[in-house]
Amino acid sequence: MRYYLAKHSKDEIVNLDLLTYAGNPENLKNVEKNPRYHFVHGDIADGKVVDEIMKEGVDAVMNFAAESHVDRSINYPLVFIQTNIIGTQVLLQSALSHGVKKFVQVSTDEVYGTLGETGAFIESTPLAPRSPYSASKASADFMCLAYVETYGLDVVITRCCNNYGPYQFPEKLIPLMIINALTGKKLPVYGDGMNVRDWIHVLDHCRALDIVLRNGKKGEVYNIGTSNEWHNIDLVKKILAILEKSDDFIEFVKDRPGHDRRYAIDASKIMNELGWKPEIDFEQGLIDTVQWYQSSSEWWGKIISGEYRDYYKMMYEKR
Ligand code: TYD
Repeated sequence: MRYYLAKHSKDEIVNLDLLTYAGNPENLKNVEKNPRYHFVHGDIADGKVVDEIMKEGVDAVMNFAAESHVDRSINYPLVFIQTNIIGTQVLLQSALSHGVKKFVQVSTDEVYGTLGETGAFIESTPLAPRSPYSASKASADFMCLAYVETYGLDVVITRCCNNYGPYQFPEKLIPLMIINALTGKKLPVYGDGMNVRDWIHVLDHCRALDIVLRNGKKGEVYNIGTSNEWHNIDLVKKILAILEKSDDFIEFVKDRPGHDRRYAIDASKIMNELGWKPEIDFEQGLIDTVQWYQSSSEWWGKIISGEYRDYYKMMYEKR
């Protein structure tokens, strides 16, 4: 939102957000007063609300709305079906009925499943999701492609690797580890810590999505990634090093069931066809992110003292 409004000085945005546990109006405080920003509190799976917005005349839809945390999907799969699959279908149908010209579905590399030691996902890699989260996102991707083929809607799908940066909800690896280190807690690394993720700064992801919105071709999928692979354990050690803390804070805990071993993205297509490339160096991006969390304790303090505390207890106490 911040990126888009600053970059495109004439466009207006309607932000439809249910503000579930990870939604936080404070994240958008500095855009609230912008006259080109409109907030609607509602559910993407609620056809009435979605139609009300669409009938005002919407040029393009970008679907960022999703339940996105794998661990939660293991405990509560139904809400993932509801928001990620039903919600996407409601948006697609309404976009079709109201003549929307472009629909960008923000998906994930997790739909491809898991990799061995080598290789990388390309757009034609068969989908093989393994968690309720990734299965729900893969289903939504298929529904998007069905709307292209069956109804001719101009839908484009993006599949990005793991994001990091400011304002990320503390349940995700990087903010969780930074906040635990800052508050003197143990850093819970799942399994042997040798799972691999490919990390991109959220602003590089925003730039890629903007390019796809403008130039992405109907029915195409674009992978977004930076070939920046890290074993979890090395990344956690790196965060501790930035904070000048000891590795003794690391605690190996019970593995996540069905834990995907490795993700790696081949982003040649978006680079070659749409001219995108990442701009943020990981070392610097990570240092900036650590510093952002260091200076934003008021922001995350409220989160970790609220219902997140019960979630943390449930997820981590018996591990
Ligand atoms: P996460 O941020 O949940 O993203 P995803 O599972 O969608 O890739 O986790 C990133 C990696 O970090 C993943 O391999 C699981 C691991 N992890 C831990 O080791 N400890 C944790 O407390 C969390 C949240 C994740």
